[in-house]
Amino acid sequence: MSRNLIVGLDVGTSKICTVVAEVNLNDQLEIVGIGTSISRGVRKGVLINIEAALDSISNSIEAAELISGCDITSLSVSMSGSSVEGTNSRGVVAINSKTREINEEDVERVIEAAKAIVIPMDREILHVIPQEFIVDGIPHIKNPIDMMGIRLEGEVHIITGSSSSGQNLVRCVNRAGFAVDEVVLGSLASSYATLSKEEREMGVLFIDMGKGTTDIILYIDGSPYYTGVIPIGVNRVTLDIAQVWKVPEDVAENIKITAGIAHPSILESQMETVIIPNLGTRPPQEKSRKELSIIINSRLREIFEIMRSEILKRGLYNKINGGIVLTGGGALFPGISNLIEEVFNYPARIGLPMSINGIGEEHIDPKFSSALGLVLYKHEQQKFNKLKKGSSKVKRKNKISSKLKGWFLKEWF
Ligand SMILES: Nc1ncnc2c1ncn2[C@@H]1O[C@H](COP(=O)(O)OP(=O)(O)OP(=O)(O)O)[C@@H](O)[C@H]1O
Ligand SMILES: [Mg+2]
Repeated sequence: MSRNLIVGLDVGTSKICTVVAEVNLNDQLEIVGIGTSISRGVRKGVLINIEAALDSISNSIEAAELISGCDITSLSVSMSGSSVEGTNSRGVVAINSKTREINEEDVERVIEAAKAIVIPMDREILHVIPQEFIVDGIPHIKNPIDMMGIRLEGEVHIITGSSSSGQNLVRCVNRAGFAVDEVVLGSLASSYATLSKEEREMGVLFIDMGKGTTDIILYIDGSPYYTGVIPIGVNRVTLDIAQVWKVPEDVAENIKITAGIAHPSILESQMETVIIPNLGTRPPQEKSRKELSIIINSRLREIFEIMRSEILKRGLYNKINGGIVLTGGGALFPGISNLIEEVFNYPARIGLPMSINGIGEEHIDPKFSSALGLVLYKHEQQKFNKLKKGSSKVKRKNKISSKLKGWFLKEWF
């Protein structure tokens, strides 16, 4: 019997990561190999040099094949970049059947109606995620199928991105010799790896802070209501350190990772120092770690304040009782939750990827949330499809488009 493999390829600005997972006979996901390569040809989450990226992608997939002993043929790939944005939309349809019983086709029709917004030629839809349905004026319905009514309204969150960015990504993976099953928003994937169902229901601001971008999804009542990408990631902090302390970028990066903290209040002593190694003829220098924390804190605070004002602007600020969850490499700054709590006045936590069978300690790290999330996302889709097949009632009209699956999952799990 052939193995049921799920493969996710996270194309990040700092690293490209391939996760190979196998679904066992009990329908459980097991990680069988993870391959990582240094990312080249990617800037702020977008592919800018196909040849360079092709090499990095091939290296990552080959490493994963070697470790897992599996032949990879197809995979899901993550997408990010400042072109990604989310819009909320609403559609309305009449229920025509004699019984007035709402069926899957009605749900499809209302989603199609909600999707009928003007999308510029250079963008395409990545995801359409239903938020809620309204049946004859009664709101907050998560699943209207089998309910009686004459008027069905559907509210959806539509996530779009640049068509050419998506096409370049797919083309690059194809040129490496692999088929792309699906292009998934990277932050949507990482939210699957880190958020609990309860948090999504309570309302949570999810942040994936990587090297090149900071991606946000705001969940309310279990569904996304706001999606955004700030084209500034933690590499900006490295550049700040390099500029203020007049050191090369690689030295600044090393200082950031080994001694960087996001909030001066967590320093044990104000007198702590950081040593800058000798550079050419310049002798080693001793610097204040508090000064380093202030450089880092200022930039991170600026990024979080941009986010805060975006959410305030949309009137969603009082909807996040589940607090704030931060993942991605930026979450590794000690003291970053203190800073977030200070800016937002909501509780914050670091989002580590949830433990999956077969995963090694070294991968339970916020940098891998997106890659691991890709396989979790796909697995949930598969589980949902299986349940659907098993339900004889649904068998009659088994035609929900793949773009809708994400939402129905939360009804089942
Ligand atoms: N201990 C640490 N403290 C602070 N930053 C760190 C630490 N370790 C790694 N980083 C930073 O995390 C970043 C990498 O994070 P991540 O792997 O999430 O990015 P990416 O997914 O490749 O990029 P993006 O999502 O922006 O395209 C690097 O810029 C690195 O400097
Ligand atoms: Mg990332």
